[in-house]
Amino acid sequence: MTELSALELYNLPMGTREFAADPYSFVEKARKVHPWIARCEHGYCVFEYHAIRDLMSMDDKMRPSFDEVVRIMSAKGSPWGRFTDEQMIALPEREHRLMRDTFAAKFTPRFANQMRPIMRQTMARLLDEWTPKERIDFEEFASYYPVSVLSQLVGGPLEAVPGLRKSLETFGLGMSLKPELLPALDEAYLHIEAFCEKLIENRRKNPGRSETPDLLDVLITASDEGGISTRQLTDLLVFLYVAGYDTSKNVMTYLMHTLMDLPDVYRRCAEDHEYCRKVVEEMFRYYNPGTSFRFTDAEITYREVKVPKNTMLFFPLSIVGRDPTIYQDPHQFDPGRAIDHTNRHMAFGLGKHMCLGQYIARAQIQEGLHLLAQRMRNPRRAGKSEVRPFYGIWGYKGLPIEFSDGRSSV
Ligand code: HEM
Repeated sequence: MTELSALELYNLPMGTREFAADPYSFVEKARKVHPWIARCEHGYCVFEYHAIRDLMSMDDKMRPSFDEVVRIMSAKGSPWGRFTDEQMIALPEREHRLMRDTFAAKFTPRFANQMRPIMRQTMARLLDEWTPKERIDFEEFASYYPVSVLSQLVGGPLEAVPGLRKSLETFGLGMSLKPELLPALDEAYLHIEAFCEKLIENRRKNPGRSETPDLLDVLITASDEGGISTRQLTDLLVFLYVAGYDTSKNVMTYLMHTLMDLPDVYRRCAEDHEYCRKVVEEMFRYYNPGTSFRFTDAEITYREVKVPKNTMLFFPLSIVGRDPTIYQDPHQFDPGRAIDHTNRHMAFGLGKHMCLGQYIARAQIQEGLHLLAQRMRNPRRAGKSEVRPFYGIWGYKGLPIEFSDGRSSV
């Protein structure tokens, strides 16, 4: 048995630009020093596929460490700090279980499938607006899609989308652990909160607008039945906006970045809806924006290593899909890759916090890709992209592209 602190480990510079630009080569260096764990700026990084699976499944011995994030950000008591401490994923065990039990049954594949027409309409509307330009920043374009879809799903006015998008963009930087961002984060949070409060208040005053309940109707009914307070319901709605925003946007941006170099795959996406599902699943292996973090609430022994209580562990779900001990040719994007229970991707996490919006996320990216490939023909790079910080929601910042408007060639 070895103490974690006594291990010889590689120091992963996860907070640096160099790491964000190419995390894979750093992790390969770390793997040469130890097979599954390295040190990093704020704790330890577990990078091996099975170690992430095993450790993230030990839910009872760990908690998502948002209290530590609030401490690092010196945000205790600020509006953003309050939300970060009390959002669904950060709640204490019992309260989290109540929220999860109340809402999880509503986020089904069936519900997500029912929402597909709204997703298609939303993407079609955005494409009508953007494709005539034939030269755009794809990341900016993609950023309107998840926020517009969610707004449509909860009956929010589309005029509010640009303001929400701006605040969500700021909000997404919160997990990059830079305290100087706090005033901007507070402002962004308060804007999204006010929007969600108003939406819930208005719906309670005017319930049952249509025969088919939308997502907001479903959430309000479930929260009334489950004894969830309006404060918690509002926090949940804010959280849905936040959780679904730059995750989905960054996946779509990386998808375009990848498929520009695979024109046959891209062209087939325009014709073959079923194939889009495979492409999207392979994308979740190939790239994913999130790194989960946990604080150990008890000592854990794993593979003869003693991890003490109060250790901060990072799980880069973002890059584990390229683990060469699991995937052959991990840097090759292959929608036909054989996947089973031994190598399934972990883009949506594991255990009791596994993504509640995963079916919505999958459906909106599949539908989005199918229409995109029809309307943005022959896309090619038209400038440089930057990378976002690795901690938090990683991905490309900016993706200038040129393409031909598919509608004008019909
Ligand atoms: C590509 C898009 C998405 C990705 C990659 C993603 C990824 C994740 C991951 C990895 C987690 C677990 C985090 C952890 O355990 O530390 C999570 C949790 C969560 N996600 Fe997503 N997500 C996406 C989209 C969405 C959408 C669209 C929604 C809602 C509309 C959503 C709602 C949630 C919620 C509510 C949780 C917290 C669940 C809990 O604590 O019980 N996500 N997501």
